[in-house]
Amino acid sequence: MRFTINGRDVETAFDPRVSLLDLLRDHLDLTGTKKGCNQGACGACTVLVDGERINSCLALAVQYQGRAITTVEGLEADGVLHDLQRAFIEHDGFQCGYCTPGQLCSAIGMVAETRRGMPSVVTADLAADTVTLDHDELRERMSGNLCRCGAYNGIVDAIAATYAGEAA
Ligand code: FES
Ligand code: FES
Repeated sequence: MRFTINGRDVETAFDPRVSLLDLLRDHLDLTGTKKGCNQGACGACTVLVDGERINSCLALAVQYQGRAITTVEGLEADGVLHDLQRAFIEHDGFQCGYCTPGQLCSAIGMVAETRRGMPSVVTADLAADTVTLDHDELRERMSGNLCRCGAYNGIVDAIAATYAGEAA
């Protein structure tokens, strides 16, 4: 089966019942993506597929053949961290770091959703063409990513600082 992961074509054979998370971690040694609950409740396993965030623990790998998959290992370019990764460091957006890969991928997908005008449960005007990523929107949209260390304030600050033009 063929995949495109972090810009590279990968061909591998595995049991078709394997989840995307287990494919990444156990078959391809991409262990940046973390397994927390393994049942869709914590967001630790979040990766991007064609730019959209998904919980990889709930996804069968075979579904994603031919799609562009991005994990935390694919966020940097030529050894330079993504702006959001640097902001997490500058704003103390983590303690143990276990949730961080999922937080990063989720935030990038979340910002793309917001740019497309996708409303959330706290969006006041569902007909608006644009959504301002204010404090409540940001927290609501990231609520699927849990942090047992409680680094939420730093996480929110890092996202807000990175996307300052659209986050308030
Ligand atoms: Fe996938 Fe928790 S490990 S949501
Ligand atoms: Fe430890 Fe989030 S930094 S779980």
